[in-house]
Amino acid sequence: MTKPLTIGKHTARFPLIQGGMGVRVSAGGLAGAVARSGGIGLVATAGMALNSSRYDGKNFFTADPLALKDEIAKAYRIAPDGIVGTNVMVAVTNFDEMVRASCEAGAKVLVCGAGLPLNLPELAADYPDVALVPIVSSVKAAELIARKWQKAYNRLPDAIVVEDPDTAGGHLGAKPENIGNGSYDQYATVRGVKDYFREEWNLDIPIIAAGGIWDRNDILHALEQGADGVQMASRFVCTEECDASEAFKQAYLKCTQDDIGLIMSPAGLPGRAIVGNIDKIRQRDIGLGIRCPSGCLKKCTYKTEQERFCIVHALDRAQRGDVETGLVFCGTNAWKADRITTVQAIFDELFALEKSEPALEEAANG
Ligand SMILES: Cc1cc2nc3c(=O)[nH]c(=O)nc-3n(C[C@H](O)[C@H](O)[C@H](O)COP(=O)(O)O)c2cc1C
Repeated sequence: MTKPLTIGKHTARFPLIQGGMGVRVSAGGLAGAVARSGGIGLVATAGMALNSSRYDGKNFFTADPLALKDEIAKAYRIAPDGIVGTNVMVAVTNFDEMVRASCEAGAKVLVCGAGLPLNLPELAADYPDVALVPIVSSVKAAELIARKWQKAYNRLPDAIVVEDPDTAGGHLGAKPENIGNGSYDQYATVRGVKDYFREEWNLDIPIIAAGGIWDRNDILHALEQGADGVQMASRFVCTEECDASEAFKQAYLKCTQDDIGLIMSPAGLPGRAIVGNIDKIRQRDIGLGIRCPSGCLKKCTYKTEQERFCIVHALDRAQRGDVETGLVFCGTNAWKADRITTVQAIFDELFALEKSEPALEEAANG
């Protein structure tokens, strides 16, 4: 039996956060469906403008927060009483703006990774009910954030997501040479972060495990190993509600374990993806002579040197259905997807026993 998950002032019926998936893979449709089913649904803010009605090809930074607000509103239309939050990448140029837009639009939880969100409490200061949740891959990163937040803002995180570079999808907070060689032990880090907050700050905050969690057994394992909840992303791609194109979902259905690997992102971080088409991805923008179109990342080797490829457009192409020259991010488990289903069906599979348990007890008690 799992327990509800309380993060700050918000309690979700099930201990599950749907991980943010940038460039409109998790927009309002998916986040709303997860929130309606009793989890925490995250609208990913990265590249929100692209493929939105707000974008005219030139106004990326004006369109981005407006498109984000549209998607948060959409999620709340689907789940009026649900817990809808956002995922904001620290590496994006308009991090501050997207945090503020999230708060203004009523996000209840902010989950921030791809860098250390050192100024997050300041940006969300006018919204004390909004829960602040950094993503880390090491105890050291959690310590750095806690010390800085406490000293500068007298605030500590409401929860921490521990993301496992060996299994998670998308950008990874690790050096490529340290991935897959035993440098990371996900649950040792989960317990280490938990102990750190208990011992150093006398604080019992939820620690959420992310990466490689697919079925009910994985969730029970994570909880046994000391996590208070899980963050799952890849599992939700092959749903009717996921905001990506049909072709993106089909790429998950078709891929094998061998198709999933690491690429080096122009953001300077490794990323996990379906890697077979990486040369075509590289060639696409270079071949068409396309220079950095929006300046979306703070640091980007494509922006400065035309090295690698334009990541936001590569992700956008895949999201819209061009999986030939587009980049499909995924976790190590994506090959396990075998059908398009619904978010509610996934929740039923993950937590169904729990719904029937009280009913069975009642029946047994006459
Ligand atoms: C398609 C895709 C896009 C992602 N985009 C983001 C993102 O924009 N920001 C972020 O912090 N994490 C991102 N992630 C990571 C997930 O939120 C999550 O932590 C991770 O994938 C969990 O592992 P799992 O996919 O095995 O469940 C992405 C993952 C995938 C699969």
